[in-house]
Order: sequence, then structure tokens, then C-alpha cells
Amino acid sequence: MRLDGKVAIVTGGGNGIGRATALAMAAEGARMAIVDLQADAALAVEHTIRTAGGECVSVAGDVTAPGVAERTVGAALAAFGGIDVLVNNVGGGGGQADILNLTLESWNRCLDLTLTSVFSMSRAVLPHLFARGGGSIVNIGSTRGVGARAGAAGYATAKAGVIHLTKCIALDYAARGVRCNCICPGAIATERTMQIAAALDDPAAFEMLLNGATAEQAARFVRLRDDPAARASLLEGTAPIRRRGEPRDVALAAVYLASDEARYVTGAVLMVDGGRSA
Ligand SMILES: NC(=O)c1ccc[n+]([C@@H]2O[C@H](COP(=O)([O-])OP(=O)(O)OC[C@H]3O[C@@H](n4cnc5c(N)ncnc54)[C@H](O)[C@@H]3O)[C@@H](O)[C@H]2O)c1
Repeated sequence: MRLDGKVAIVTGGGNGIGRATALAMAAEGARMAIVDLQADAALAVEHTIRTAGGECVSVAGDVTAPGVAERTVGAALAAFGGIDVLVNNVGGGGGQADILNLTLESWNRCLDLTLTSVFSMSRAVLPHLFARGGGSIVNIGSTRGVGARAGAAGYATAKAGVIHLTKCIALDYAARGVRCNCICPGAIATERTMQIAAALDDPAAFEMLLNGATAEQAARFVRLRDDPAARASLLEGTAPIRRRGEPRDVALAAVYLASDEARYVTGAVLMVDGGRSA
């Protein structure tokens, strides 16, 4: 198995992309530690992994709160004796507006959740990667961190920061055996994004989401119900691979970057967006 003998931490491992990543890594032989705000969701993933014969510990906590990074690291060390992989998956937290419509509070919250959480978790984990002679950090960015979009100043800026922090970590610790890479997903059909889609109440917009549009594109599509030309031009922005992105599409990229198959890959930004940004 591709991650045999490795211990991996996934933040936000209770749902969506984090959950799919925890399950995919466990299926490849990794022993897992997941941290999530939602204790029930984290426990459910732990249970799923154990039932399949894997090993997993879950921690309930907010990765932006003081001490939670250290508590998560402590749980992984207590259960498995070391750490080889960190997936910084938590992110989001609002920030979906232009700066005049973003309060300082929501700006700070978005940066805390999306960018500072990567800083805190990576700082807590790095000494333990060094202790094993190296390891892999995989950050979950976003296509929005590469190409900005109107009305997402907080989120897009924070994700751009995640990409740059990835490169800084990669350069600072390459000589100590640590690789650090960033995956940028496009629109991914998680339960959360599917709920957004269902709330649109517009079959054409729903179809558009299935074909890889972002939730924001679909919402704009709904608003343009009476403007077929504008709708047609929006449709051109959806993913070239005409299907929805699944959490597992991102998870498989994370497995690769965590594994020794990616042993010469560091500081890289891997777009997992069905070709939309190509
Ligand atoms: N889904 C998409 O379309 C998409 C696209 C691009 C990037 N991303 C990025 O992928 C990552 C995961 O997104 P998702 O769509 O799977 O999210 P999700 O909402 O489906 O799952 C996120 C999980 O993280 C947990 N979480 C949230 N805040 C937390 C905190 N402070 N501490 C601990 N756990 C916390 C939640 O409880 C939840 O279990 C995010 O960084 C997001 O920005 C998602």
C-alpha cells in the first residue's frame, strides 16, 4: 500500500474533502488522526476507518483555537508514536464579498481559518516530521487562490496566502526532508456545496453545478434567468471535464503528494479542477 507505515493528520476530516482524504489515506495503509469542529462527524469517520480494519483517532476541536494544534499532535503521537503527513484542509469561513462589504471581523475570521490554521498546524507538526527524518505537508488551497474572482476578496486572498506559505515551507525545510505542496480544487460536490445547489431551485443551474460550475457561477446563472445570452457566456466558464468534481478527486491527489511517489515534488501547486484553469 502506498502509505504503509505512515501516520497522517487531516484537519477538518469529518466531512467533504477532508473526510474523503482521511478515508483514502487509511485505505492506503496510513494510520490517521483527524481533527474537526464537529465531534460526531469526526467520530463517524474514525468508526468507518476502524470498521474497515484501519487505525484512526479523532480529536474534537477548532484548529483556530489556542492549543488545539498541540492537542491534535499529542493525540497522534500518543496513538502512533510519530507523524509523517499533515493535510491542512480546513479553510473558508466567509470572506465572500468585496472589501467594502466585508467587516474586519469576517476578514479576520477568514484569514484565521484559511491561512493562520495552516501556520499553526504546520508549526506544531514540523518538529515531529524532522524527528522522522522528513515528511509531507499537503495544503488545500483553491483555484480562487490562483485566479481571483469578484466578490471573494477575503477567501481568494487567504487562499493565495496558502499557496505562498506552501512555497515558503517547501524552501525552508526541503533540506530537512520535508516536502510541502498545495492542491487547488475547483468546484467540488461536497454535501455542503450540494445543499447550496439544491437551494438554487433551478434545474438548469443545478445541471451547471454538476458539470463543474462554482456555486457562485450557478447563483449568478439563476439571477440571469431572463438573459439567455449572459447565461450562455457563463456556461463557458464551467469545467472542461464535463462532470462534477468529487471529494475523492482531491483525496487521490493528496494521497499521491503524501506518498513517496512524490519524493521529488515540493513547492508545487496542483490544480484539481477538471481543467477549468488550464
Ligand atoms: N468544496 C469545494 O468546492 C472547494 C473548492 C475549493 C477549495 N475548497 C477547500 O477545501 C477545503 C475543504 O472544503 P470542503 O468543501 O470539503 O468543506 P466542508 O464544509 O464539506 O468540510 C469542512 C470540514 O471542516 C470542519 N471545520 C470547519 N472549521 C473548522 C475548524 N475551525 N476546526 C476544525 N474543523 C473545522 C467542518 O466541521 C467540516 O467537517 C477548504 O479549505 C475549502 O476552502 C473546497
